[in-house]
Amino acid sequence: MKKIFVLLISTASIALAYSQSTTIRISTDETDLILKVAPGGQLCQSYLGEKLNTATDLDRLPANYIEKYGKRKWEVYPASGGQDSFEPAFAIRHNDGNLTSVFRYVSHEVKKVDDNVTLTTILLRDDVYPVEVQLFYQTFAKENIIKARTEIRHREKKPVTISRYASSMLYFEAGKYFLTQFNGNWSGEAQIHTQELLFGKKVIDSKLGTRAAIQAQPFFRLGFDRPASEQAQVLMGTIGWTGNFQFTFEVDNLGALRIVSGINPYASNYELKPDEVFVTPEFIFTLSRGTGAATRNFHAWARNYQLKDGTGDRLTLLNNWEATFFDFDEKKLEELIPDARYLGVDMFLLDAGWCGNKYPHVNESQGLGDWETMHNRLPRGIPHLVKTARDNGLQFGLWIEPEMVHPRSELFEKHPGWAMTIPNRETYYERNQLVLDMVNPEVQQFVFGIIDRLMQENPELAYLKWDCNSPMTNIYSNYLKDRQNNLYIDYVRALYQVLDRIKEKYPRLQMMLCASGGGRCDFEALKYFTELWTSDNTNPVDRLYIQWGFSQIMPVKALAAHVTAQNTQASIKFRADVAMMCKFGFDIDLNHLTENERIFCRQAVLNYNQIKKTVLDGDMYHLVSPYEGNHLSVMYVDEAKEKAVLFAYDIFPVRNETILPVKLQGLDPGSQYKVEEINRLPDEKPDFESHGKIFSGDYLMKLGFPVFTARHMNSKIIVIHKQ
Ligand code: DGJ
Repeated sequence: MKKIFVLLISTASIALAYSQSTTIRISTDETDLILKVAPGGQLCQSYLGEKLNTATDLDRLPANYIEKYGKRKWEVYPASGGQDSFEPAFAIRHNDGNLTSVFRYVSHEVKKVDDNVTLTTILLRDDVYPVEVQLFYQTFAKENIIKARTEIRHREKKPVTISRYASSMLYFEAGKYFLTQFNGNWSGEAQIHTQELLFGKKVIDSKLGTRAAIQAQPFFRLGFDRPASEQAQVLMGTIGWTGNFQFTFEVDNLGALRIVSGINPYASNYELKPDEVFVTPEFIFTLSRGTGAATRNFHAWARNYQLKDGTGDRLTLLNNWEATFFDFDEKKLEELIPDARYLGVDMFLLDAGWCGNKYPHVNESQGLGDWETMHNRLPRGIPHLVKTARDNGLQFGLWIEPEMVHPRSELFEKHPGWAMTIPNRETYYERNQLVLDMVNPEVQQFVFGIIDRLMQENPELAYLKWDCNSPMTNIYSNYLKDRQNNLYIDYVRALYQVLDRIKEKYPRLQMMLCASGGGRCDFEALKYFTELWTSDNTNPVDRLYIQWGFSQIMPVKALAAHVTAQNTQASIKFRADVAMMCKFGFDIDLNHLTENERIFCRQAVLNYNQIKKTVLDGDMYHLVSPYEGNHLSVMYVDEAKEKAVLFAYDIFPVRNETILPVKLQGLDPGSQYKVEEINRLPDEKPDFESHGKIFSGDYLMKLGFPVFTARHMNSKIIVIHKQ
């Protein structure tokens, strides 16, 4: 992450090369971000909005808002101690104790990476102190996505302390601003709440250390003048950082909105050595026409550019966690693996409880850290299970939680200093475990070694579930000693270093990221993981809301969803239909199902395989929101508009409510489509009147078809085929 600083910065006053007419245009096919150099040399945001069609209009744009707002400038990277008295993007303590910075434009470069991607790099420099900031804007024209990040470097004699280091700062001007946030809790992640922003600051952040979130997800949506809707321009943004993040939304006294995004500077006055480069995470955003377009832009961009193996296939699976929890042995697994074969899924995934000998990991209190197979439980080890899976025509996946250690483990006995504990305070625990001090290179090597050894011993291992069940507790690194301020940030960087090594050595290894459910659902994690576990709550009713929330920005291809025994009042069909709207799997003991339910599940896998490509790679439309009634509907349409899949759920409808048809989206109005219900229970009476009928795309989008009912926890999957 850190690079050596090679540019020479002169400490003398710098003759700035800017001209007042310097204009930097950062564009996608739909959006323009125009920056201009203001009198005085500061780089200012001149315009951010719908793409301007007439190039000469760029000359009319003001460099800043001086005329309108007196001295107010919309500086792109305002620093503490400058002329702006609102939340800064940057703050520093120089070697002489001075706390101010003023950055002026020096130069910029525009590089066309390919037909779709352009990288603009802008250099800003303080003309009193040898401190430089480089701003990077990468645009993805077709997907209408812009990524912004910053690099900070200095040549002062000794380390400086930086206490603000935003990834980016954006400004907006509208009559009103409505922020939609995705907050919740363990087991109730990504619930949607919208509020108007008034004068002052609204901060969404996290301080969990090992993860971005669980209470507040690191993404948001913003509506101008009215809450974000399908009808008007919407900003959707996220930060690619698997740790403490912060979004500050500040409405100033003149009614402008400033959005500062980046790492949360909480307890992180970072000590930056001379020549060291501080690289911020990426703030990724789209300014789109409507919420649906913003979602589809993010999904497409993530699949094309961010998600590990974003365009590849995914494995359906049977996971043993909710079937056995910690209570299994080789014999039990030998019974379960054929169940996966019966279901017809691609893989069997073995969850927690397979490691530790002196302190077997048979519950949540011991064994984490000892990644040796538990001999008395699994005498023939993982290779035997991989072989059993192979004999059943299945791939094999394995759970690990490599960043954690139990005090009752051989690892802790051998390396107590590798665990984060505070030397002069009582140790506190989350789930009885401690976080390993990833900043320590020995720990990084240990963590990499866990995966490397497993892969060497089991080259056929197809998949890892990487768990992380504790936020950072005992905020102290034995390795960092008197540089504890760097801990929160360096932990995440160290994690990425390990993940980079794994990705490089095992590029095809599929990996799920899980953090007590959806604690690590961020876009930087997507680079390393093929899927995310969004919640430990697999009750299908709750899951509908959780999946609705995450899928506003996260591609469903990355959202694992399993059929479980949580809420058996819901039919097996309802539970399966909920999981099938994402990346499908099972986490259930088939012995607890009836024969008919088992047959249904097997058929559901076959059905999923028919629709998987459209669901995972298609354009997603959020048709009916569960926040506006008692039903939910989403649909997916493939690129050629030849096949679409619609999911419809009746959650808890109330008596006598009006039930309206669902209008479809994304079809070709001029084509004819046949609609068919799939995934019905064998004994279910068909009630989808349109089954087997042919309609024009125009009809389906203007009139739709009735698909909802008044029944509780009822669902339908409809496939729409172009004729
Ligand atoms: C929490 C995860 O969310 C579960 O799926 C399971 O893997 C447990 N950890 C194992 O400890």
